[in-house]
Amino acid sequence: MKKTLLALGLASASALTPALAQSTAPAPGAMTPAAATVQVSIAADQPGPVIHRNVYGQFAEHLGTGIYEGMWVGPDSKIPNVRGWRKDVVGALKALKVPLVRWPGGCFADEYHWRDGIGPRSKRPVKVNTNWGGVPENNAVGTHEFFDLVEQLGAEAYVNGNLGTGSAQEMSEWIEYMTAEGNSTLAQLRRKNGRDKPFRLHYFAIGNEAWGCGGNMSPEYYVNLYRQVATFLKTPENNRPKFIASGGNADDTRWTEVLSAQQNVYFPFDAINHHYYVFSGGAWEKKGHAVGFKEEEWLSLLSYTQEFENVVKADIAILDKNDPKKKLGLYLDEWGAWYLPDPGSNPGFLVQRNTLRDAVLAALHFHMFHRHADRVHMTNIAQMVNVLQAMIQTDKDKMVLTPTYHAYAMYTPFQDATTVPVSLSDNPTYALGGRQMPTVNATAARGKDGKLYVALVNVNPRESETVQLAVQGAGASKAIGQVLSADKMDAENTFAAPDTVKPKPYQAQASNGKLGLTLPPKSIVVVAVE
Ligand code: AHR
Repeated sequence: MKKTLLALGLASASALTPALAQSTAPAPGAMTPAAATVQVSIAADQPGPVIHRNVYGQFAEHLGTGIYEGMWVGPDSKIPNVRGWRKDVVGALKALKVPLVRWPGGCFADEYHWRDGIGPRSKRPVKVNTNWGGVPENNAVGTHEFFDLVEQLGAEAYVNGNLGTGSAQEMSEWIEYMTAEGNSTLAQLRRKNGRDKPFRLHYFAIGNEAWGCGGNMSPEYYVNLYRQVATFLKTPENNRPKFIASGGNADDTRWTEVLSAQQNVYFPFDAINHHYYVFSGGAWEKKGHAVGFKEEEWLSLLSYTQEFENVVKADIAILDKNDPKKKLGLYLDEWGAWYLPDPGSNPGFLVQRNTLRDAVLAALHFHMFHRHADRVHMTNIAQMVNVLQAMIQTDKDKMVLTPTYHAYAMYTPFQDATTVPVSLSDNPTYALGGRQMPTVNATAARGKDGKLYVALVNVNPRESETVQLAVQGAGASKAIGQVLSADKMDAENTFAAPDTVKPKPYQAQASNGKLGLTLPPKSIVVVAVE
């Protein structure tokens, strides 16, 4: 995504400060939806595709304080840690049931040399993180530390290989180091460095954003490089990762077209990725503010989820043409809101505040991913801690959970749940400043625990919405769950006030077999329907 090298060696990330006051008075020209009841119909007896738990995956890059300080403090730190990983942060992430972590980048991946990150930490080389702020990278977090993190989390490992400045040999040796069982020199080196059994490698990507920071390639050139490298990536049969080809960005679906057309030649891959960030102004050059925005920007940012869905549909149409047996996954392994950097922070650290709008944005994305669950088997929000649309923000030993964190927590029942069709009618349009979207957005799935889960979002920040929920093929006597909302569109959690945006209990009772739910303004409601 980054178009130019960011400024090197600037000041460190700023401390987080309380939100600017933000009025919720009606904006001039806002279209107020008619006060009708939105009808939501759920076909609980028509199971659809399963929502792969990795749709709720995370991304952790060597970028700013995303890893160092945010998660890794080292075993000698006064901040309580387990082998260097902060207890508070890992504990909070475990509560989210993080299913998968992508590492070490992003743009960082194509300048990362794995041998720099093994052996005694005091002897590891110090490099310059040229992509992100020009700060020293001491390689304290390397392969062993990363796998320790995912094992502590109970998550799957997604390692992004270095195609940009690496080689087929370097990637093939890294894979051997991670997965070899026998007594090869690399397996013995891994044992010498403290790990007897191979690491379980679930996913491996060949390069990142090959169209940009990964090497400014054309898809045709990348295809040839991919084929050459993939020839040499060998693992034991029981530890073969899914191989991921680096795909398109924003509305560029040509990568999906070119890569998926490689079905008939030697091109072993399991998925194509696609990156899509949203900006309040609709483009990389038109980033808005994370806080203190007007209602027009509330709507514009949220509404760009629709453009994202159009791209996903276009990618899927290409895949359905070139891969009708649906062998390939579409992995949306970088997504989220990208704002102007927090004032006073190092612009290369991508620090931004996180508000109720980000939680609502995340929920709208989840619903979209569910709608395409048969192809979208993985997504990774950018990024896990302190960077872009993070779950958690830290300042030295302090930690705060963001509204986005709470959205993820509320949607955990959807991991590995089976989708069921949802249809809406009498759904008013919310329109302002030339942008518009349906006011209510819904998704439903049968959880692994057998319960029917329904999630609803009301994007109107000024009006509540009433919803009548009818469930075909199952009864609906009550709904019990949680609601997330706040007084202000840009309400956030700060170190001084960490619980400003937090889920609260929610319940509704049925009458005449139909459930009536009231969705507060700018809210997310997730319930189990009984
Ligand atoms: O997530 C931040 C950056 O955005 C990643 O390093 C890169 O892949 C994308 O452009």
